[in-house]
Amino acid sequence: MKNFNIGKLTKAFNIEIDSIASDKSISHRCAMFSLFSKETSYIKNFLTAEDTLNTLSIVEQLGAKVKRDGSTVEISPRETLNEPNDVLDCGNSGTAIRLFCGFLASVDGAFTLNGDKYLNERPMKRVANPLRSIGANIDGREDGNKAPLFIRGAKELKPFTYTSPVDSAQVKSAMILAALRADGISKYKENELTRDHTERMLKGMGATLENDNEGFINIHPLKGHLKPLNITVPTDPSSGFFFALAAAITPNSRVLIKNVTLNPTRIEAYQVLKRMGAEVNFIEKQNVYEPIGDIEVSHKELNGVVVEDNISWLIDELPALSIAMSLAKGKSLVKNAKELRVKESDRIDSVLTNLKKCGVTFTEFEDGYEIIGGTLSKASINSHGDHRIAMSFSIAGLFCDMDIEDTDCILTSFPNFKELLDSLSK
Ligand code: S3P
Repeated sequence: MKNFNIGKLTKAFNIEIDSIASDKSISHRCAMFSLFSKETSYIKNFLTAEDTLNTLSIVEQLGAKVKRDGSTVEISPRETLNEPNDVLDCGNSGTAIRLFCGFLASVDGAFTLNGDKYLNERPMKRVANPLRSIGANIDGREDGNKAPLFIRGAKELKPFTYTSPVDSAQVKSAMILAALRADGISKYKENELTRDHTERMLKGMGATLENDNEGFINIHPLKGHLKPLNITVPTDPSSGFFFALAAAITPNSRVLIKNVTLNPTRIEAYQVLKRMGAEVNFIEKQNVYEPIGDIEVSHKELNGVVVEDNISWLIDELPALSIAMSLAKGKSLVKNAKELRVKESDRIDSVLTNLKKCGVTFTEFEDGYEIIGGTLSKASINSHGDHRIAMSFSIAGLFCDMDIEDTDCILTSFPNFKELLDSLSK
């Protein structure tokens, strides 16, 4: 369990960064979806962090041949998948465990999905229940709500019409993956669009997914194999956001984050920073599965903001935004964000208990918080084993100096975070 100190920044910075971690959501999906093809998939810029390397190992355990040279990965699947002779370790990753539930639900064999102590406390009935209702055999602790989860691949899955009670890309993706092997066309609906990498990538690989005018995605079962992937994974906007925050709170500073996905379901936090007063520009350069380009963020004085819409588009960035809110002029409000309670930690609790140590005044709600902005002061931050808490408060350290405890969790998504952060003061 490593701790570190982040010292107050004594000068402005103006930098371009092209070495921010690759997108985690897309990297998980690249590894998994390559199993739908019988040809080799070529992936450049794969995220080489704990979460996605675990997913790659699982893909290997399922029988694919994986060749990796740094962040360049080749995945050659076998005609049929292996029944692995060991548990499948998803580590800290909700995306891995929930998507594999949908993927494995109809694969011949027995599979045990396990996670670390944090993941094994997160709710799984959001995928277990709808998958069971279409014939999947899934079980686990607390009647299938907690990992370890056990799956015995069903011979046949029924097509479904399902409106999810929770807006979650992980649930949507698990159901889409199951639907690809169901016995007819399935329909999935969510209240608000969540990140749509699964739909974009599978369509690019040749699957048929159509949006109808009642708001359902119609998912056609696969007729055979899909085309392989040939993709360069863009930079992760959620990881990039820590450096956007750094520029927004540091007078006279500017950052250019290169080659990020500009998918609208992923850049809402940057829009909020813009509403708060920061200067933010999006420069689209290409479109491969997703719009991709650079994001430029420069410091301006920040004002309080209300965040209550499109919550799933910025759910991962709310801890970092809470630092901007604490340093802004006036009150900020976050509402409709109950999902924060079931992330890598209870992020309403882990943000607020740490802000309290930093002397910030706030009110807690079941689904969010109100923060009275003004200033932050130095404290010893408990990461709660949550990478985004550790990194958000590290950025606050640039303003007031911070001790961050239990920082190993950063390796799950952004291994070179500290190195890049240190480079700001050089
Ligand atoms: C993710 C979906 C979101 C997000 C997570 C990654 C994905 O989770 O918070 O970091 O890759 O599908 P939910 O589906 O639980 O909202």
